[in-house]
Amino acid sequence: MKRLVIVGTQWGDEGKGKITDYLAQSADVVCRYQGGNNAGHTVVFDGKKYSLHLLPSGILNPNIENVMANGMVINPKAFSEELKKVDRFNLHISDRAHVVLPYHIELDKAYETIKKDVKIGTTHKGIGPTYTDKSARIGMRVSSFIHEDKFAHELKHLIELKNKELISYGHDPIDFESVYNEYKAYAELMKPYVTDTSYLLNQYIETDKKILFEGAQGVMLCLDHGTYPYVTSSSPTASSVPVNTGIAPWLVEGAIGVTKAYSTRVGEGFMPTEIKNKLADEIRVRGNEFGTTTGRPRRIGWLDTVVLRHTKRVSGLSYLAVTLLDVLSGIEELKVCVSYNLDGKEIDYVPADIDDFMRCEPNYITLKGWQEDITQVKSFDELPKAAQAYLKTLSDLVKVDIAIFSVGPDRNQTILVKDIF
Ligand code: GDP
Ligand code: IMO
Ligand code: MG
Repeated sequence: MKRLVIVGTQWGDEGKGKITDYLAQSADVVCRYQGGNNAGHTVVFDGKKYSLHLLPSGILNPNIENVMANGMVINPKAFSEELKKVDRFNLHISDRAHVVLPYHIELDKAYETIKKDVKIGTTHKGIGPTYTDKSARIGMRVSSFIHEDKFAHELKHLIELKNKELISYGHDPIDFESVYNEYKAYAELMKPYVTDTSYLLNQYIETDKKILFEGAQGVMLCLDHGTYPYVTSSSPTASSVPVNTGIAPWLVEGAIGVTKAYSTRVGEGFMPTEIKNKLADEIRVRGNEFGTTTGRPRRIGWLDTVVLRHTKRVSGLSYLAVTLLDVLSGIEELKVCVSYNLDGKEIDYVPADIDDFMRCEPNYITLKGWQEDITQVKSFDELPKAAQAYLKTLSDLVKVDIAIFSVGPDRNQTILVKDIF
């Protein structure tokens, strides 16, 4: 495959950054297609760890073209900070992406406070309000942001509008002058990278370049297909790539679903296979399950194949990359969810209604665990038999082949089972 999507199959933090960085070694282009700095993608190699929030995970390879596509929302301040962490890179930013402004962040916090016990547990990065403004057609596009007069004119008008809302929530109004003066410097910084990235991507395709499309979040956080309303405000699915990047749907050749060997979720919202005991605490520590963006402890659960089959249907999955398999070493028995019981009936789908979803009880099969440390394993055959059986069962239950598995955070702890890209 020459054009492959990297998609999170669960609730985010599956290791998309790691898999993108690994596959980027044989790519020409890496394109982030949605989300903003709510994402936190970790890349580890040569003993160094990088946390990327906005920049595509190919950015650490100086030979790769990196694209931030129109489906993204870009916080210019966070962008300027992240840019300082990297050197020698090629970057292109869509003129159609939207800009996260300070009032989006304040409104994100205000909505969460108002919602009290039904809050979503957002990252407070202003993502929801920025996508809301995009849909309401009162957003700020990158093309306006980098145009000095347009930026001033649109910002003045928008701050007037947003201040009315902020004041109604008992919030201090935002000062136009100070935002303008700070942000016009970010606009200057961003300007040289801005282009029509749809045009560019289509040129890359015409010249046969190998492209990875890197998603943020995971399909269960999709605005359309996730556990609404406990979702993010964009669509991380592989099926969203054409609209989020400006390429024809038939030019996407496949998707690799990055799947944690168990489940995690950060923020609010039901997770059917959640475990809240000593084992969950042990997995959290062993897997370093603390948010890359907010530092919040991630909730832990058993692997849920109803979720994976849902992801396969709504997103499309050609192959799986199973990550954090090493974290399960030393556990006697491993549970895998194969269906739900909803009001006495066995089901194999994720109900749309959140109250129905919250009544779903997982049905499990139990697999034998393994005791060995697998962090130095270099092939499928070197894995303990029980770990092989765990991967095989996962693949059989989802009916998708595994192309990669991963036994540690480092780039070289990644094992290619099938050469797909
Ligand atoms: P992303 O948001 O999908 O890119 O994932 P994050 O980077 O937020 O979270 C994944 C975490 O797991 C990071 O800390 C990675 O360094 C780490 N990680 C990735 N793959 C493995 C693995 O196979 N084993 C272990 N132990 N850690 C891994
Ligand atoms: P990566 O790309 C995990 C979660 C938040 C919250 C919900 C909505 O690193 O996998 P938002 O700020 O987007 O409005 O929050 O989505 N969330 C993530 N959880 N990984 C992420 O990104 C996430 N991005 C958002 O915790 O529950
Ligand atoms: Mg993450």
